[in-house]
Formats: sequence, structure tokens, C-alpha cells
Amino acid sequence: VELFEACQQQSSDLTRRKFTYANQLFVSLSDARLYLTGSSMNGLGCRSSDADMCLVMSRNRRGDAIHILSTLQRLFRSLSYVDNPQLIRAKVPILRFREKGSDLEFDLNINNTVGIRNTFLLRSYAYADLRIRPIILVIKKWARHSQINDASKGTLSSYTLVLMVLHYLQTLNEPVLPSLQKDYPECFSPFMELDLVPEGSKHIPPYISRNQSSLGDLLLGFLKYYAIDFRWDSHVISVREARALPKNNSHLWRNKYICVEPFENNNVARAVHEKSKFETIKFQFAESYRKLEQKKDLDSILPVRTVINEESSRR
Ligand code: UTP
Ligand code: MG
Repeated sequence: VELFEACQQQSSDLTRRKFTYANQLFVSLSDARLYLTGSSMNGLGCRSSDADMCLVMSRNRRGDAIHILSTLQRLFRSLSYVDNPQLIRAKVPILRFREKGSDLEFDLNINNTVGIRNTFLLRSYAYADLRIRPIILVIKKWARHSQINDASKGTLSSYTLVLMVLHYLQTLNEPVLPSLQKDYPECFSPFMELDLVPEGSKHIPPYISRNQSSLGDLLLGFLKYYAIDFRWDSHVISVREARALPKNNSHLWRNKYICVEPFENNNVARAVHEKSKFETIKFQFAESYRKLEQKKDLDSILPVRTVINEESSRR
């Protein structure tokens, strides 16, 4: 709890993310809309998290995302307050840049609207039970410290990691979470107008779980689930279905080490495509489970004080 309180995003962090760039850089695009997505909006952000953004161009301005991002990159290079804009040609291309003189990083994509929808889905899960935000934040810190939380290096994106935690909490004998997509399909319809998406997620009441486990027990259980119980070779992690699904023959899952399906018809863990990285991930789960089970002390798997000091030093 202490770690969570020191690391969770503050309202001043959000204000900074919302206004610094949104106003200055995009004010002239009157027929486009800028959405803040990812952990700045889903309730699972740390003070050090980047700010993910999606620029939604209206129909008549839709074009190749790379083309639009390259144009923005040229524009940003001429601005004194933007540092080092980099075009990253991933499956969803992004323009990554920093605010000059600060460590706040921005990732901008074009028209990846599924990211707006799943941000608010995650937000609903984050607030469904008081334990969700602290446990996810600690697990994100653990994964970062264990060097298994970097999709650009072939390990887990934060998005994948969060879905793995939600799945674990859904599949306990006494679940801590339900499938919100199943219980409230009208709030998460993929056809809902984009502007209504943030509103939709506000009408979901907290989930009343009979599971009274402590954060410590849930953390240990999470590590154990992926260290020992989960069958990586034959199952898909499904948050939509709130259970592990047997892998079918779909090309999405064939020859994939980790399969996670949230919302979109996609394997969000596709970044893990090297066997060695998959082995590293499993090793970290197994080792951390062993240490935490033995010591029952968070410090045995994460240097808590150091992480708190790093986050507290951010402004
Ligand atoms: P991140 O993996 O950066 O997650 O994806 P995050 O919640 O912002 O975590 P931190 O705090 O920066 O580490 C950002 C957003 O990109 C979309 C999701 O909307 C996610 O919330 N995304 C990411 C996808 O839609 N699919 C993916 O495979 C990855
Ligand atoms: Mg992010």
C-alpha cells in the first residue's frame, strides 16, 4: 500500500499530461480529436508512466498513419519545447517524443481507436474493487524491475501484464473480478460512438466479491498461477470470457508463446516472439514465486525503498 501510494499518478501529473501538449500542439487541427489513453486514463498509471495519445482524424482526413506521423515529426522538430521526436514503425506506428527538459514521454498514434475503447474497459476493471489498483501497480513495478516489461525488447507490454493480472483475479475459486464485458455488454460495445466511451464506463458499480484475500496473498497467488498452474502451451488468457480458453487452430494463436485476448481480435502478447524471452518471463515468475513464498516479504522480489524514492523524486 505504501508503494502504491508513493507511485500512483497524482492529479497534477494528469493535468500536466492533459494540457502541456494537447493544447499547444494540436489546437490547429480542428477536424481531429486528441484522446489521452493508456495508464494516464485507466487508473493504473505511475508518476513515471508515459502519456499515450491517440489522434483521431475525421473521415475526410484519414490517411496513412506513417505519412501523418512523419509530417508531425517534421513539425515537432521545429518546436523549441519538443525533444527528439522519433517515428516508431510498429504494427501500430507511433511518434514518441519528450517535453524538453523533463522526463515525461509521449507516445502518439493515429486512429488506433481500439486503444481508446480498451483504456476505458481497463479503467472499469481498475475501479471494480479497491485491491485492483494497488496490486497492479506493484506487479508493474515488479515486472519492470525483473526486466520483463518492455514490448520493444520482446517481453510483456504493460497492457498485456495488466490483462494477465485481471485474468488471474477472474479465475480464482472466489473471483475478485467478473467479466465486465459479459455483465455490461452495452457499456463496452465496439460500435459505441467514441465520444460516449468514457461516459459508458462510469456507470459500472463496484463488484461485490466474497473473496477477502489480502494484497499479499493475491500477489503470491498471481506469481504461483503463472509460475505453476497456467498451461501456456494449450491455453489462451481471456479477460472477455473470464477464463482460460483452450487454444484453437486460429492463426492468431498458432506458434505463439503467450496468448492474451482482451477485447480486440488480436494477440496482445505478440511481442513475445523469441523462445528465450518467453523462458526469461517464466523464470522470473518461478523465481519470484519461490522467493516470496519463502520470505513473505515484498523486498525479496522488489527493492521497495528504492522504487519509492525514484517515484517520489518526480515532479
Ligand atoms: P501500454 O502497454 O503503454 O500500457 O499501452 P500503459 O497502461 O500505458 O502502461 P505504462 O504505465 O505506460 O507502463 C498503452 C495503451 O495502448 C493500447 C492500450 O490502450 C493501452 O492502454 N495498447 C497497447 C493496445 O491497444 N494494444 C496493445 O497490444 C498494447
Ligand atoms: Mg503508457
